[in-house]
Amino acid sequence: MTIGDSITVLVALDTGVDRNTLQEALPAGSGLHVVGIVDGLDEGWAVLQQTAADLLVVACAGYSERALALVAASAKQQPERPVVVLCHGPGPGLLARAFQAGADDIVFLPQAPDEIELALQKAVARRVAPTGHGSLAPMICVLGPKGGTGKTLTAANLAVALAERDSRVVLVDLDLQFGDVGLALGMSPEHTIAELARTGGAIDEEKVDRYLVTHASGARVLLAPTRPDHATHVTVDFLKQLYPVLRASNDYVVVDTPPGFTPEVIATIDNASHVCAVATLDSLSLKNTKLGLETLDLMGFPNDRVALVLNRADSRVGLEHDDVVAILGREPDVLVPSDREISRSVNEATPIVLAQARSDAARAFRALSERFLVPHPERNGHADAVTAKRAGLFGLARRG
Ligand SMILES: Nc1ncnc2c1ncn2[C@@H]1O[C@H](COP(=O)(O)OP(=O)(O)OP(=O)(O)O)[C@@H](O)[C@H]1O
Ligand SMILES: [Mg+2]
Repeated sequence: MTIGDSITVLVALDTGVDRNTLQEALPAGSGLHVVGIVDGLDEGWAVLQQTAADLLVVACAGYSERALALVAASAKQQPERPVVVLCHGPGPGLLARAFQAGADDIVFLPQAPDEIELALQKAVARRVAPTGHGSLAPMICVLGPKGGTGKTLTAANLAVALAERDSRVVLVDLDLQFGDVGLALGMSPEHTIAELARTGGAIDEEKVDRYLVTHASGARVLLAPTRPDHATHVTVDFLKQLYPVLRASNDYVVVDTPPGFTPEVIATIDNASHVCAVATLDSLSLKNTKLGLETLDLMGFPNDRVALVLNRADSRVGLEHDDVVAILGREPDVLVPSDREISRSVNEATPIVLAQARSDAARAFRALSERFLVPHPERNGHADAVTAKRAGLFGLARRG
């Protein structure tokens, strides 16, 4: 199937799930076409063999080994067909086991039908257009479970470091309540993401371009709303439309996020090809980062696409490198030192990669940007002509 087709869904009911309740929970008159609701999981499996459903829904009343077995069997038999678990009631332990078994998502009922529809559509969309595939540009979601770890600092410097390579870069400020990318880069909010969202209707490249504000580095920024109450316009559905357009028409997309896993952040992770997690050197931040990494794992986000930045890595706070690795369960990829010049650069609204290009902090952010570089032929091609010209002049330096 392709995006836009109606999605055919087969529902298998475990014992204890009331057919009527489930029928009412499912969205009516949507792009979903329920081809069957089958009582019993064995029966569901049998019907599945004869039905060309795009999606399997396994409905259970709580933790159920039978339901998990059906998820695993379906995922094994036809890995490209997504499976979503609907759990009617609390199911301690089910979340992790369902993802391990191969489920694409799990929804705990009761839930509004349009939320269920969104989860089912998302599960299918991920299979139809896997992230980081085809001609879509890398999209890096900068994450941090706690406030103040250096997400905005990292996102701004990463975007500018990528833009310095003559790439078309868009930086999205998804901190919808208190976004400060504009402040960090010294840009006035001529347009914002809220204005774009308020226009309603379909989103295309031309329309998005009208709301991007260009930074001196060449990076274009979709700035946060100027007032927290405008944030309501920026819905998950809007983001689901926006990101593919940005990824199709640029070389890199960087998204700065608010702390935590808000619905908008989850939608961003779902659409991202990479995550950049930012932690600071204190045990609480590291513990929360570890939880964040585990959450990404549960969401099925590939480990090898998560870059880990340790900010203020040189602070003398009684934590050694080994302690960091022990808490996080992995090595950080990039270490950013604590630097007074960073505070100065923030106050002067010039990212450190531009203000102090030779500083250790600037080098760290450039090293981070290099982790996401895509070879030119695979890029969307916007920057290739310019880059080729520069490579002619600076080819040796670049190769070096
Ligand atoms: N390595 C560093 N050296 C010096 N100052 C730093 C460093 N990292 C961050 N800061 C300062 O700490 C403050 C918080 O950083 P930043 O705004 O990037 O965090 P954040 O994670 O985006 O916060 P929030 O969750 O509130 O959005 C900023 O004023 C920044 O200048
Ligand atoms: Mg921030």
